[in-house]
Amino acid sequence: MITRKWNVHNVDNLTGHQDIVEAAMWIKDGEVVAFPTETVYGLGANACSNEAIEKIFEAKGRPSDNPLIVHISSREQLPLAASDWNEIAEKLMDAFWPGPLTIVLPKSKYIAEKTTAGLDTVGVRMPDHPVALALIELAGTPLAAPSANRSGKPSPTNAEHVFYDLNGRIKGIIDGGATGVGLESTVVEASGGKVTILRPGGITKSQLETVVENVELDRALLEENLVPKSPGMKYTHYAPNAPLYLINGDRTFFQDKINQYQNDGQTVGILVSDELAGQLTADEVRMVGPSDQIEKVAQQLYNQLRSFDDSSVGVILAEMYPVEGIGEALMNRLLKAAGNKVLSKNRQE
Ligand code: TXA
Ligand code: MG
Repeated sequence: MITRKWNVHNVDNLTGHQDIVEAAMWIKDGEVVAFPTETVYGLGANACSNEAIEKIFEAKGRPSDNPLIVHISSREQLPLAASDWNEIAEKLMDAFWPGPLTIVLPKSKYIAEKTTAGLDTVGVRMPDHPVALALIELAGTPLAAPSANRSGKPSPTNAEHVFYDLNGRIKGIIDGGATGVGLESTVVEASGGKVTILRPGGITKSQLETVVENVELDRALLEENLVPKSPGMKYTHYAPNAPLYLINGDRTFFQDKINQYQNDGQTVGILVSDELAGQLTADEVRMVGPSDQIEKVAQQLYNQLRSFDDSSVGVILAEMYPVEGIGEALMNRLLKAAGNKVLSKNRQE
């Protein structure tokens, strides 16, 4: 398959634009097209067609028991995706849509079984990106879209990442430039008078708390032996090719670890804030931004993780960040990418 590339970076009147019209036609035809959202690039197909959805799972190599998020472009489209929603869900939509919040709701009869991996619920969100909204509107149907990476790899934050992973496997990629948030949406469930976070993401716990009183994390996110309510959380994710370890210690401890791996003959990559980069010596240094601007770090995380795959590093050591605000999602992704491997200063090895 030849993968078409459309560049709509900085284009006006998106719904009238030839390239988006063409991409929407492919979607109507049951094909798969990658598109930008405010979080990461998505791999979109008609959420109401099992045949189209199957192509997403195939292109990604995604386990078929992991449900997809359904994207809508207006509140009028909501009944196409969900059959019911309560007052709390409605409050969340009012406050955070369009935006990086996915709400798990009872599924409508229109959504294909494969989209939800057989579940009777569906994750729905309205992305805050003009290209995504124009594409959904022109396609005239909700779009199921997982992140547009090969299963297990870091999510794509620009069109080149998508091309690298999926060239030849999908019909087209709409290039709308780099994404803003850089991490995926927050997935929540709103039932029993409270909001449960199934996957931390672009909307933080404290943002949710400005709208609803009772917000908690799915306990499975904190305790390893519980089965997470969000099926995707159980898989290895976001991983670069080389093994990744998180460093829980000061600068000296970090440098000691670098030296140890180097003495063992390894080429060592480090993933660190701009400040720490200036204080450490390693073979490959990737900077994610100033440590006091955690949004920038989140935005750069996947891009820099991916960049190690084009280098010869044998091991990657990464800095950790405070679990506050978007830091919750950032640390969730870093721990997943590392397969929970943390080297701690105060622990015997
Ligand atoms: O920001 C995002 O959410 C991006 C962009 C493209 O919108 N999409 C994304 O999709 O991250 P994906 O497929 O990579 O992750 C979807 C997550 C998975 O962890 C999945 O298990 C969970 O959402 N999910 C989807 N439907 C669900 C449902 N009905 N119940 C519980 N979790 C669900
Ligand atoms: Mg994903």
